[in-house]
Amino acid sequence: MPSTSFNQQLEASQQRCETALDNALKHLKISDKYLSQAMVYSLFNGGKRVRPFLVQATAKALSIDDARVDIAMAAVEMVHSYSLVHDDLPAMDDDDLRRGQPTCHIKFNEATAILAGDALLTGAFEILADMSAEFTLAQRLQLISLLSKGAGASGMVAGQAIDLASVDKTVDLAHLENMHNHKTGALIRISVLMGAHCGHPDEATLEQLVIYANAIGLAFQVHDDILDIESDTATLGKQQGADVALNKPTYPALLGLEGAKSKAQQLCQQALTALENIQGDTLALAQLAQYIVTRDH
Ligand code: IPE
Ligand code: IPE
Ligand code: MG
Ligand code: MG
Ligand code: MG
Repeated sequence: MPSTSFNQQLEASQQRCETALDNALKHLKISDKYLSQAMVYSLFNGGKRVRPFLVQATAKALSIDDARVDIAMAAVEMVHSYSLVHDDLPAMDDDDLRRGQPTCHIKFNEATAILAGDALLTGAFEILADMSAEFTLAQRLQLISLLSKGAGASGMVAGQAIDLASVDKTVDLAHLENMHNHKTGALIRISVLMGAHCGHPDEATLEQLVIYANAIGLAFQVHDDILDIESDTATLGKQQGADVALNKPTYPALLGLEGAKSKAQQLCQQALTALENIQGDTLALAQLAQYIVTRDH
């Protein structure tokens, strides 16, 4: 289990993320009050901020810790929050509870939720392009390129399309792994790479970071699927049993609960092994890998 000091680090990183998101929203100069309220509602509602933590912890492992990191943390969390707002829409998972609150389309309305998602997504690229920090132009472009690939048609959005097309179907393990690697793995992998590209990582380090990120990305969704069965709605902050109700393909559905748990453990171990090959302080990354497969929500 992650230690008390890890929990403190996670809290500190969450605080840092909230401040970075505040600054990002100020920068966006949102011109409509209702839209602004829906964006604020969807961003500041108690997310775990795992992806920003990954940005920060990876940058720290490479001895980078300045305003570039804050901007990358905010950008990736804006994309993640948009993905949740759209994931919950009636045309997608049709969920009414997110992070313990009514989902954006329930609290506001469906059109506003679509627009708030759109604005969070585009806003992430706006802040990467023009918020002031010590980026070289090449770094800005690299981060924009990474985030667009993680979010888009070769990443998360493709995963969501595969997910929706897989409902009510019998799928094999390779299909499921591909789906998870896209819908959840892509943004997690990109968070790690964005943290690294706040600096100037060498190829050998990048290679190990990608192995680490792919393993925890998949583990994250395997554990999400397990929690959908084992946890309860109050702890999760979202409806327990939603996958089963929608007949979604999941790891527990395919491997059984114990099989899914042992898969998550194997992936965690794979991630830890990759970190051993990296020079620098990778303790926080290691602790996060453990947190991902032991968290209760
Ligand atoms: C939920 O992500 C959606 C998945 C990709 C499984 P998180 O579990 O990171 O959600 P928040 O941001 O903490 O609410
Ligand atoms: C969502 O996966 C992944 C995203 C890209 C948002 P899920 O549909 O399993 O996420 P939850 O369980 O609703 O958070
Ligand atoms: Mg979904
Ligand atoms: Mg969902
Ligand atoms: Mg889920």
